[in-house]
Amino acid sequence: MTFIEIEKMQLPLKHPIFEVLAKIADEKGIEAYVIGGYVRDLLLHRPSKDIDVVVHGSGIELAEETAHHLGGLHVSVFKNFGTAMFRYKGMEIEFVGARKESYRANSRKPIVEKGSIDDDQKRRDFTINALAISLNKDDYGKLIDPFGGIEHLEERLIKTPLEPRVTFSDDPLRMMRAIRFASQLNFQIEENTFNAIKEYHHRLRIISMERIMDEFNKIMLSPEPSRGILLLDEAKLLEIFFPELVALKGVENVNGVKHKDNFYHTLTVLDTLSLYTKDLWLRWAALLHDIGKPVTKKFVKGQGWTFYGHNHVGERMVAKIFNKLKLPQNEKMKYVQKLVNLHMRPIVLSEDIVTDSAVRRLLFDAGDDIDDLMTLAEADITSKNEEKVKRFLKNFKIVRRKLKEVEEKDSIRNFQPPISGEEIIETFHLSPCKAVGDIKSAIKEAILDGIIGNNYEEAKEYMFKIAKEIIK
Ligand code: CTP
Repeated sequence: MTFIEIEKMQLPLKHPIFEVLAKIADEKGIEAYVIGGYVRDLLLHRPSKDIDVVVHGSGIELAEETAHHLGGLHVSVFKNFGTAMFRYKGMEIEFVGARKESYRANSRKPIVEKGSIDDDQKRRDFTINALAISLNKDDYGKLIDPFGGIEHLEERLIKTPLEPRVTFSDDPLRMMRAIRFASQLNFQIEENTFNAIKEYHHRLRIISMERIMDEFNKIMLSPEPSRGILLLDEAKLLEIFFPELVALKGVENVNGVKHKDNFYHTLTVLDTLSLYTKDLWLRWAALLHDIGKPVTKKFVKGQGWTFYGHNHVGERMVAKIFNKLKLPQNEKMKYVQKLVNLHMRPIVLSEDIVTDSAVRRLLFDAGDDIDDLMTLAEADITSKNEEKVKRFLKNFKIVRRKLKEVEEKDSIRNFQPPISGEEIIETFHLSPCKAVGDIKSAIKEAILDGIIGNNYEEAKEYMFKIAKEIIK
């Protein structure tokens, strides 16, 4: 069935809330509609987590009446905004009164007045988000589409209902949202709408970083994140909140020796990795894996372009960037830092003869994140030289096999010292001191080097041997 045919029929509203809402709305004589994302996603066959209901009159009243009818559900009321919300059968149902907004010529402060459904639809961000479905008996299930939203769903187009400069002035976050929807749904942004974003990009500065990141993370989670990031770059929005990423751009040439453009390389790595994982933070690790390159870049005679220590610099930059972008300063950030720091290790390993001890050290440093690290490192191979890629991928297979073998044999992934500090203290009648740590670390090194096995007996024997040298 095409979208145009859908326009003429009654839309199937499956969630049980709709029947109840329709009943109460009719009993109370309230005009009510489902609107926005729920309608869009229904037509695109995408799952939704919330239902927005707009009413001609008081949204709070319809919310309270409905919640009461459903046996007294708890309603959260936001009087200042005239909105109310309750949860029912896995859905968040939000209610708002239809509003009309107009700006006085001499003031930025909008006058918000009660309005009709039509007024409300005009104030929405995009035509595909302005679609509404009636809930009243007379025209239950009827689609109300004054701005060609259905056509735009069919054409896969993001377009504002009003002149885009008006829609974006009302809320500049919508510029991010346009790009987010384009990336998430694989839609195009209509030309005039995109031109307005380019023209108004600087207005994003008044938006809080938290709101910007909500949209950016949705771009990160889209099937091909580079689509959104390239659009953000083209519209000059990216440089406003993420200049470090833009700094990866460019190719320098000294005596005919060039390095690759790390911006486009990063996006290729991110897209490749995204084929294998939907994990937001692993995707962030891909986005930031080379973030330390611009600051460490050097042309060294005889060697060409070098980026020494870019992984360590990158690891430190992750903390600063997470702080600035208001991303979580917790174990998620530490995970991204760890992967950025270690991202070259599997490649370096695969270039050499893969020794057991090198594999044990990698397992020790990566711990449970070893599989994610391998996924990142493999996506990082973006050379255009097919022979080189083939060789790398073949060596990677060897590394993966070795990782499995060594882990089965030595259990290094979740390394626990086989001999505790207390045992060392008791055995040698020591008080807590540096020697205890030195013995413990000598045992760990011996295990990683393959001098002894990762077990209590061999570790204990080695402890006696090494203690003679350490405790003098
Ligand atoms: N909306 C808007 N302008 C914004 C944010 C939201 O006009 N800056 C309107 C749109 O009609 C949108 C609805 O409010 O469809 C609900 O917004 P939201 O829940 O943020 O987004 P969804 O469109 O539902 O999309 P998603 O669930 O993917 O975030």
